[in-house]
Amino acid sequence: MKTKIIKINLNEIDRKKIEQAAKILKKGGIVAFPTETVYGLGAILDEEAIKKIFEAKGRPADNPLIVHIASLENLEELVEDVPEKARKLMEAFWAGPLTLVLKNKSVPEIVTAGLDSVAVRMPSNKIALELIKKTGPIAAPSANSSGKPSPTRAEHVIDDLNGKIDAVMDAGPVEIGLESTVISFLDEPVILRPGKISKEDIERIIGPVKLHPAVLGEKVDKPASPGMKYRHYSPKAQVILANKKFGEILNKLNSEKKKIEVIYLENVEEGTRELFHKFREADKKGAEVILVKAVEEKGLGLAVMNRLKKAASRIEE
Ligand code: TXA
Ligand code: MG
Repeated sequence: MKTKIIKINLNEIDRKKIEQAAKILKKGGIVAFPTETVYGLGAILDEEAIKKIFEAKGRPADNPLIVHIASLENLEELVEDVPEKARKLMEAFWAGPLTLVLKNKSVPEIVTAGLDSVAVRMPSNKIALELIKKTGPIAAPSANSSGKPSPTRAEHVIDDLNGKIDAVMDAGPVEIGLESTVISFLDEPVILRPGKISKEDIERIIGPVKLHPAVLGEKVDKPASPGMKYRHYSPKAQVILANKKFGEILNKLNSEKKKIEVIYLENVEEGTRELFHKFREADKKGAEVILVKAVEEKGLGLAVMNRLKKAASRIEE
């Protein structure tokens, strides 16, 4: 299969290009598209189409997908009753980088991996919204090969999936660079995956919410989110995460003449956008070690540390 590259400008959206992508999707094809968080790999809610996503990514079948919508009308068709607090979060943060896990009503089993819940989000990226308006709800995981970091540029999608997907819409680097916050409303609200919409942001709207222990890197026997049990990024290089000992470890690695890449996010808000890109670049350069400086675990920093802990094989003070 030849993967079409559809260049598109976020600030001046060419309707013909949206049409082109929508047409492929409606015929049951799979198309990577930009969202504000990371690039997604989309299909309409059709079993045959969605199978292609799992195949292209090499994604385990027990890991469910997020359904992306463009309006609240879409939502009513997909899920059972929406709790009051969930409704409030949608009002506050949609369209935007927040995913809610709710009771499934009509979403095919292949999307939910057989769970009786479904994860839904309304992205704010205008290309994504225009596309969904044309096709109806789109199921989409991040558009990387399973186990690789989420793609934050179309080039990353091509590196992983060229020849395996019908098309990629290339709108340049994304805005946020980390996947959406996932919060479950099946019981009392609990954050399953931290993201740009922070725990603090959420609590300002609905009061105290729990953090799932896996968010902080604790081992869990029964993952609340199937994605929790998969290692997210296993580069050839060893990833070391350090805070106090950062300088000491750096000196030691240098004296051992290791090929190292250092990732130091001076400003978390700014640096997050390039984090996954830096991971990929380090791999391309053939680094033996990626040494990352830890950041404070609050706000967006909690989300950054969650991803770093998943990637690291060695965590130091
Ligand atoms: O920002 C994002 O969320 C991006 C863009 C493309 O929207 N998507 C994304 O999808 O990161 P993915 O598939 O890479 O991650 C979805 C996560 C997985 O950890 C999955 O296990 C979890 O959400 N998930 C999906 N449905 C779920 C459900 N019903 N219950 C619990 N967790 C669920
Ligand atoms: Mg993913």
